[in-house]
Amino acid sequence: MSEDSAKIAVIGLGNAGLPLAAIVADSGIKVMGVDINEERCRMINQGENPIPEEVGLEELIKLHGGKRLVATPRFEDASGCKTFIVIVPVFVDAGNNPDFSIMQKALHSLGKILKKGDLVVLETTFPPGTTEGMAASRLCEASGLLPSDFFLAYSPERIMTGYSLSRLREFPKVIGGRDDESGIVAYQVYKNFISNLHLVSSARVAEMIKVMEGCYRDVNIALANELFKICQDLGVDFFEAREKANHQFCHIHLPSTGVGGHCIPVYPWFLIKEMDKRENFSNCRLLRTSREVNDEMIRYWAGRILSECMKIKKPLFSIKICIKGITFRAGVKEFYHSRNLALARLLMEKGLDAYVSDPLLSEHDVQKWGLRHIDPLTADLLFDPFLLKFEYPQKTKD
Ligand SMILES: NC(=O)c1ccc[n+]([C@@H]2O[C@H](COP(=O)([O-])OP(=O)(O)OC[C@H]3O[C@@H](n4cnc5c(N)ncnc54)[C@H](O)[C@@H]3O)[C@@H](O)[C@H]2O)c1
Repeated sequence: MSEDSAKIAVIGLGNAGLPLAAIVADSGIKVMGVDINEERCRMINQGENPIPEEVGLEELIKLHGGKRLVATPRFEDASGCKTFIVIVPVFVDAGNNPDFSIMQKALHSLGKILKKGDLVVLETTFPPGTTEGMAASRLCEASGLLPSDFFLAYSPERIMTGYSLSRLREFPKVIGGRDDESGIVAYQVYKNFISNLHLVSSARVAEMIKVMEGCYRDVNIALANELFKICQDLGVDFFEAREKANHQFCHIHLPSTGVGGHCIPVYPWFLIKEMDKRENFSNCRLLRTSREVNDEMIRYWAGRILSECMKIKKPLFSIKICIKGITFRAGVKEFYHSRNLALARLLMEKGLDAYVSDPLLSEHDVQKWGLRHIDPLTADLLFDPFLLKFEYPQKTKD
């Protein structure tokens, strides 16, 4: 194997791609990271970690950045690689249909440097069928190659920001090919840097595994949210009931202000929209309802906040309400589909005197989201959206 053919290219060095690129480099393989964000490439090449909240990443970037892991904004720099891993986002648009535009651009640029015999592995979460369908045709179109000229496989990223490195090192990872040979070739390459790797029968199965996981979480969180509301109505302590209800065959999740981030609230739509296209509407009733239940939780919490305000001896619109955290998850500075951010905005839209205090954000950061910062100790009512707890720092409650 020549020096160059030992190289792997990782396209997209974001929250998911960079930890993966670092793990590949740490296994002794040279990595060419391609990302259109020039500043991010510069940081990585200087050994600086652009994702500080990712445990352990700093050490790996310091060790390999600019050496075994070289970042570049130019696809041509990766033309000597034999394996290309693509991990750029696919979102849903305003109508909840998958938006492939970022992925399509990346695949087009990759197609321009793709050669006969190369391997492409896609890691972004996709609606099942995307690898063998849209992705294969984009790559063929841009490269002029036939589908049989290159290997194509899919291996979903199953990380969680903050825990990505341990997930990549320990969590089971699946991989499946567009055809049997692609699956085997991809498995052999990935085995060099992923220890808990499982070959599945096709790319479509591997795609479904990841989407299923997201649907499971969304439906179960919706169930927890619904049971939580019912408990409230019945005067039952949900948390006490949950503790004793859970056992080997029952796992009631935790209630919340809804589901955020660019994974769980997005993936059910991949299946819902596909079933809509096929006019199999009834196949996705539970997934659709779960999305609604979770998205509506901010209205429930706005109602609860209003009820708490009624206990405070002040005119309603002068009660200072503070939401303690607007990121979608505690400890992670990400806002995509954040229900806590949506809750803070909803309270302001209702004309309430609502503010925000987030340990991860400066006053300026809060203002950038169109919200107002407050010292939580000066608020009349404090709502912690992660612990679902109320406090009254000014002791103005009856
Ligand atoms: N972040 C997570 O926790 C997580 C978990 C599991 C799966 N994923 C999957 O990973 C995908 C990517 O998520 P992310 O969190 O890494 O996104 P991100 O926004 O953090 O990073 C995407 C990166 O891709 C780069 N990029 C965009 N277009 C490009 C192009 N044409 N060529 C090269 N680089 C390009 C961007 O500059 C950015 O650095 C998601 O859509 C999801 O399917 C993410």
